[in-house]
Amino acid sequence: MASRSVALLTPRSSTAFVARLLNTSPPADSAAPAQTTKSTETTTAASAPPPVEKEQKKDHARTFYRSEMVTIPALPSEKIPKPTGELPFGKYYSDHMIDVDWTLEGGWGKPKLHKLQPLQLHPGSKVLHYAIELFEGMKAYRGIDNKIRMFRPDMNMARMNRTAQRSALPTFDSDELINMIADQIRLDLEWVPSSATSSLYIRPTLIGTDKTLGVGNPHDAKLFVVTCPVGSYFTSGFQPVSLLADSQFVRAFPGGVGAFKMGCNYAPTIGVAQSAQAKGCQQVVWLSGDNEELTEVGTMNIFVFWKNEEGDLELATPPLDKGIILPGVTRDSLLHLGKEYGEFKVSERSFTMEDIRLALKEGRLLQMFGAGTACVVSPVGQIVYHNRKADKYETWNIPTMEAKPNLMQRFYENITDIQYGRVDRPEWCFEVKQ
Ligand SMILES: Cc1ncc(COP(=O)(O)O)c(C=O)c1O
Repeated sequence: MASRSVALLTPRSSTAFVARLLNTSPPADSAAPAQTTKSTETTTAASAPPPVEKEQKKDHARTFYRSEMVTIPALPSEKIPKPTGELPFGKYYSDHMIDVDWTLEGGWGKPKLHKLQPLQLHPGSKVLHYAIELFEGMKAYRGIDNKIRMFRPDMNMARMNRTAQRSALPTFDSDELINMIADQIRLDLEWVPSSATSSLYIRPTLIGTDKTLGVGNPHDAKLFVVTCPVGSYFTSGFQPVSLLADSQFVRAFPGGVGAFKMGCNYAPTIGVAQSAQAKGCQQVVWLSGDNEELTEVGTMNIFVFWKNEEGDLELATPPLDKGIILPGVTRDSLLHLGKEYGEFKVSERSFTMEDIRLALKEGRLLQMFGAGTACVVSPVGQIVYHNRKADKYETWNIPTMEAKPNLMQRFYENITDIQYGRVDRPEWCFEVKQ
């Protein structure tokens, strides 16, 4: 999908901030979290009082510490020229990155915040052979009030730690990384787009780096964070996508790692996406089991808004209990909002291709859409279904764009209102104090 051209801020002096960063004590106006509980459901109020340095005994086996982060700002000559045109996803990187190493013996080392630079890895590094890798995807938004907010970063950090645990990679204190990323954004303020359809994409990544080729738990690891200014998914209104539905391809299975954000979940999907494109589809709807349950769409969670078989208006998305679906931050947010509206049933429940076929036939299906950080919501306009029993392809038209009420659009507006500061929802926003 096309991305939009946006203005990045012109360079300006960040000397005061850099001076503050070089001092290891937290800044007085730190955006450090109001709460230090580790629950996935706790969120951070932007209006939190300035933090008091916790009297804590450091435990580097458990986590790294923002207070130990060493900052070496890029020299003016090392800064990357700002792009002037469109901001396609993941093409341009901001000036700085976070980098922190871990060893089994010594635990986490001192985090570093420095200019964006290539990693140096031994060719035997486990990440290169056994895909011992995980990542997150989250965003910071420059609001209409010029404040910069991250959207529910605590949920991304909780998911990252869950994925680390499943990958035998080291875990860490979520609040430490959130506050380090806030420092990184403050150093790269000029890279946070000033358009209300663009944002700064944040990619925290954790890899196994030790060079022993045996298949086993990593003894060395590296966590790094890079950021990219990104434009809007939809430049001229929503563009409905066409999906290939073919149960010969499987993204995830019970007992596997579909519920975790590991790189190894994504590589096998690329060839399938190419097959989809050959059939004129932009994305794949991932099916599961003999009854062809819909699970996810591309790299998004899937929602349907319909009149169910009992005649009730219902928003439904597949449940997380089988471990084959990524617990999306957007998914969770839409479920919250849907329940708050109180106007229809909100369900986490399975539905199959046969359920969709029937709902279409009976005129009950109103909308189908994907949900994810990249675009908030993405309408589905068509499914190309491989009917394997009849050995033929069928084209199903989905009336998402024509449906009334337009729940998808309402969700989009409600979420972006919060992200861009048009509506206050402090418990979902972490303000990066400037
Ligand atoms: C497989 C998959 N499902 C769903 C999502 C949506 O998750 P979120 O809303 O946290 O971006 C993503 C994107 O990260 C994804 O990769």
